[in-house]
Amino acid sequence: MLRTHSCGDLRKEHVGSEVSLAGWVNRRRDHGGLIFIDLRDREGVVQTVFNPEISPDSLKIAEDMRNEYVVRVRGEVSRRPAGTENPRIPTGDVEVIVREAEVLNASRTPPFYINEEVEVEESLRLKYRYLDLRRPRMRENLLLRHRVIRFMRDFLDARGFIEVETPILLKSTPEGARDYLVPSRLHPGEFYALPQSPQQLKQLLMVAGMEKYYQIARCFRDEDTRADRQPEFTQLDMEMSFIDEDDILALLEELFITMMGTIRPEACLIKPFPRFTYAEAMERYGTDRPDLRFGMEIKDLTDIVADSEFAVFNTAIAGGGRVKGLCAPGCADYSRRQLDELTGKARELGAGGLVTIALNGPAGLLDNLTGDMVKSAAARFLTLDNIKAMAGHLDAKVGDLLLVVAGDGRVAAAVLGELRRVMGSRLQLAAPDLFAFGFIVDFPLFERNKETGRLESVNHPFTSPKDDELPLLDSAPEQARSRAYDIVCNGYELASGSIRIHRGEVQRKILKVLGYTDGDIQERFGHLLEAFEYGAPPHGGLAVGIDRIITLLAGEDSIREVIAFPKTQAAIDLTFNAPSRVTAEQLAELHISLREE
Ligand code: AMO
Repeated sequence: MLRTHSCGDLRKEHVGSEVSLAGWVNRRRDHGGLIFIDLRDREGVVQTVFNPEISPDSLKIAEDMRNEYVVRVRGEVSRRPAGTENPRIPTGDVEVIVREAEVLNASRTPPFYINEEVEVEESLRLKYRYLDLRRPRMRENLLLRHRVIRFMRDFLDARGFIEVETPILLKSTPEGARDYLVPSRLHPGEFYALPQSPQQLKQLLMVAGMEKYYQIARCFRDEDTRADRQPEFTQLDMEMSFIDEDDILALLEELFITMMGTIRPEACLIKPFPRFTYAEAMERYGTDRPDLRFGMEIKDLTDIVADSEFAVFNTAIAGGGRVKGLCAPGCADYSRRQLDELTGKARELGAGGLVTIALNGPAGLLDNLTGDMVKSAAARFLTLDNIKAMAGHLDAKVGDLLLVVAGDGRVAAAVLGELRRVMGSRLQLAAPDLFAFGFIVDFPLFERNKETGRLESVNHPFTSPKDDELPLLDSAPEQARSRAYDIVCNGYELASGSIRIHRGEVQRKILKVLGYTDGDIQERFGHLLEAFEYGAPPHGGLAVGIDRIITLLAGEDSIREVIAFPKTQAAIDLTFNAPSRVTAEQLAELHISLREE
């Protein structure tokens, strides 16, 4: 070993010990004769002192050291002189008096500061990711990721789950995205597809009698990247036999509560995790991944405004629509510009418009509200009683702002759901240490794609319908609900899963409803349907988005901050510059010729 200790480990109890350290020069300070080098390794930073009276040779070497040089020193741990301690770092009570020093490797001047938390353009960070990862915040994120994954493995191992690796070169697995394809050299014109998830494989492992499986699985989806989406990402993938929804949700609740207790003991949780049906989540929060850290719920005002004279409301109601609203606390003094911005957002999201009603005046109870305190373009079409009734239903007080949307009920809820998200973060309504986990259940089985008019699976085609709703597959498939469930936390969808279909005839029926022909079914899913003929047990499972949970735990905004080598928004790896062109020989071997664009 080149060293006896890690830099970050040294404390008062090491005073008097002779140590060898190796690491990077974090900072060098030349105090005219005396040189201080802060030496950094993965565990932290310690001050080393080069003193001409102790070792003139070492001082000479230190004179040439620059930031990010890799160096090795030997010396004695000493207490820092009184008054020079640094309480901001864990090693701040001590320093190492250097007797021998050696430069193991030099470094060019890095393209950005590694020893300071300064804003650096993301593309530069990604190009030099190996330098970016030297920065403490990124190192912490990777260590956190390691600890979470290790926790998951230990937790599941203790409960009888076995980890099984499944292939990456495989066949198209529908999860709703485009596939990444890999051409076959041995089979001209044929392609593997990278798995969008190990979904069918874990089901086959249940047919194989594994009973409890998990895997830290890499998934590949060619879809637009976003702050919470990467083309390749990692799931904690799980499957169990002989269980129902409650068994899985109970196991997950235990997993997340224990994980939070281990990784973030200071965090607050809502226990037990609240459970919402999909319909309820859409109605109350306008989304199936609600942020449960704050209230500000959407309420239906249709009955309350049914007798108003306001054409916007009446036309919507007459057309079968709804009037819905929410209350933004303390926002009655919003300026024209701020209100226009919210209205613009609502329109962008598909609403015909946004009715804003400001209850102006000194904050207080609604009883004090008078007509001249109401500021709204709609005020002249609404009676004070109308407004008081709406405000009462939305739990508003004087000083608040009501946001109301009339139109198609689902659109109104979705628009208000997004406004709720925006206002919640603008008003900082979420308690900082709260991790508000919740379950969403009873999803619809199918939804109709507006562009193609075709039915698509809300989850994926292997999700079981509710047993007593099987007849709906023939009569009204859009009304059928599935045995799927999601876990949400702070507005993110963290995990998704379901009880699966384990009988061939039901699986075949679902695929038919989805528009697959008998030929397609055989070609794409024949292996699974055949497996179901050999005693497939009832089974179910789910997948947790690991990158997303770590992002939340790390308090980051983007999953790129918790992935060692992520892709950019344009799906490029900037360190390797991938994707990239390949040679003509490679293409020829793969039987591929490129069309000139
Ligand atoms: P689903 O497609 O919902 O389900 O994915 C499960 C979880 O994985 C995470 N996730 C992503 N994370 C980062 N980037 C992406 N592009 C991305 N896509 C999904 C989310 C999501 O909740 N086979 C099913 C699971 C099952 O039924 O067992 C599946 O993959 O956190």
